[in-house]
Amino acid sequence: MKGKILVTGGTGFIGSHTTVELQNAGYEVVIIDNLSNSNADVVDGIERITGIRPAFVEGDCTCIDTLHRLFKEHPGITGIINFAASKAVGESVQKPILYYRNNLNILLNLLDLMPVYGVRGFVFSSSCTVYGEPDQNPITEDAPTKQATSPYGATKQISENIIADVIRSGSPIKAILLRYFNPIGAHPTAEIGELPNGVPQNLVPFLTQTAIGIRPMLSVFGDDYNTPDGSCIRDFINVVDLAKAHVKALDRMLEDKSDKALEVFNIGTGEGLSVLQLIDAFERATGVKVPHKIVERREGDIEQIWADPKRANEVLGWHAEASIDDTMRSAWKWQQRLRERGIM
Ligand code: WQD
Repeated sequence: MKGKILVTGGTGFIGSHTTVELQNAGYEVVIIDNLSNSNADVVDGIERITGIRPAFVEGDCTCIDTLHRLFKEHPGITGIINFAASKAVGESVQKPILYYRNNLNILLNLLDLMPVYGVRGFVFSSSCTVYGEPDQNPITEDAPTKQATSPYGATKQISENIIADVIRSGSPIKAILLRYFNPIGAHPTAEIGELPNGVPQNLVPFLTQTAIGIRPMLSVFGDDYNTPDGSCIRDFINVVDLAKAHVKALDRMLEDKSDKALEVFNIGTGEGLSVLQLIDAFERATGVKVPHKIVERREGDIEQIWADPKRANEVLGWHAEASIDDTMRSAWKWQQRLRERGIM
């Protein structure tokens, strides 16, 4: 056993896939999640994939007493991966206080308690949203961050700064910030995946719900951007690949492979794909047509962004491996599984 890791938000989309990869790599996992945007059944899915049931605490990381109890009941935690956060960009504009309160209190509580309980490594879920609209692509970690366009994005920038300040103050911890691009897909077994609440705001869940007939039509937000086909370009990263980056990041900190206390990595494929190309990829990979139409641009969208993942490739030894076709098939299989289970 490599060590005990606390995964906050571990029943969510990225947290559940990361728990699977941590267990596959020999780590013991304790999940804490308040189930505000996920379901306790996810723990069963993780167990079916790995044969190991992670410890699960239903609780809220904004409550420091809950965290004290958790660290006492699960002694010996050496690393934390912090997924627990509110993450809907549009909702954050409507409810900024909720977003700042949740996302920042969770972070502050965890950073506060790490030295108390001897936790050494911290992985933070950051986002390419910190770059705003890039001046050039692919974008490297050294590109300047820009004014956030939503409270959600602002919490990611502020969180990055808080972590840097805490480390600068001499806290005996190490941290790695992973800036995710657009995570999509599901575990190939379709035991776990993304479970959006209500009408999906993100492209791929909306696309798969349209393909299965829950939604009549996918709206493509704009075809008049300055891109080859006029639709926006993103770096779509398979969620299992993304999960594996977290294992590499923890290994690096806990095995003291670097003497740097704070590092930041882009986690993307290095390839930009347009919205229309993604729809094509889905249709090609699954043989299922997706009714779609072009509509107005969505306010606040970035025109094009994709990662330069060289630092993660070279320093972490991590590479995106899944093909876009396999990723699309995994998303489709997951959507079909939800139908079989009568969930959607
Ligand atoms: C992708 C592209 C849309 C829906 C957001 C957050 C980011 C990260 C991931 C995480 C855009 C287009 C979408 C639809 C469409 N946050 N689109 N029709 O906006 O790149 O990133 O999610 O939790 O921080 O900002 O992702 O999936 O919403 O959109 O045409 O119905 O698909 O315009 O170009 P985005 P997305």
